[in-house]
Amino acid sequence: MVTFSNDEANKFGDSFVHFRHRFLESGLFTDDKLAELIERYPREFYVLTNMTKQGDEPVWRNGDLNGVSGKFALEAIKQGRLWLCLRRFDVVAPQYDELIKDSFRDIERQNPGLKTSDHKSSMLISSPGARVLYHADVPMVSLWHIRGRKRVWLYDPENKQHLPETSLEKIILRETEEELHYDPSWDQDAKNIILEPGYALSWRHNAPHRVDNLDELNVSITTDFFTPMTKRRYGVIYTNGHMRRRLGINPSSTNPNSVAAYAKCAAALALKKVGFGKSGEREMIQEFKLNHHKPGTLIELPKNQQHPIPQV
Ligand SMILES: [Fe+2]
Repeated sequence: MVTFSNDEANKFGDSFVHFRHRFLESGLFTDDKLAELIERYPREFYVLTNMTKQGDEPVWRNGDLNGVSGKFALEAIKQGRLWLCLRRFDVVAPQYDELIKDSFRDIERQNPGLKTSDHKSSMLISSPGARVLYHADVPMVSLWHIRGRKRVWLYDPENKQHLPETSLEKIILRETEEELHYDPSWDQDAKNIILEPGYALSWRHNAPHRVDNLDELNVSITTDFFTPMTKRRYGVIYTNGHMRRRLGINPSSTNPNSVAAYAKCAAALALKKVGFGKSGEREMIQEFKLNHHKPGTLIELPKNQQHPIPQV
């Protein structure tokens, strides 16, 4: 299912890897199959976004499919500047989830020291020329590319100018969307890769990244996952954030292997279980819906009709 060049399988879960997959052979990614999948997605499991053009001031807004057919939705994505994320295959699309499970089993077989958990996958269907703004993700990520081509920009997660500690905390505490301040001059230090169908990428935990689609409809799967080390790191940053906010303490260590790290992870788990911090979490607001008369165009909602989009 998954092929690495040289010894690269050993890097998976820790650092940058660029490898091959064979998802296309499943036949699950044709327009017909994607249309079918879109049609059965419940509102609380999808995210539809419209963004400004590559190179323009970054703006990222959420919207609704407006009950259109899967075929119409695909046409709207082909003609517009849209990004559709069909979340949580484990709940909604087990057939697709199986592909991912098989691939992770294959990766762990090729890298016997690796143990991954908490896999959550989503299909990303996006327009020619669409982009994903500079951001960092909470878990580790594997991006499996299936149709079209995109340029992925990856930045150093250790560079505090690119990723200040307090911004990472805000993301992990879900006080903000994953977007971060970005300066185009940072591109000269970034890695950029043109991702072709049949290839996948994974990168260092919390590494900031952004994506520019090239000129066709793009289809990818993104899988969130953790390794034991990245789970501890998440716990440390989560608890540091709460200590800073609730106790006025300024913790400095983010080392996931210290003794304190294990205590912080336990604290993070306890804080999450009681829903501590929930009130500070951000909401996603619906600002537009697809125009079901003209694919690729949007109906803008006036302020008094905009409302939070339920997500689970
Ligand atoms: Fe991401």
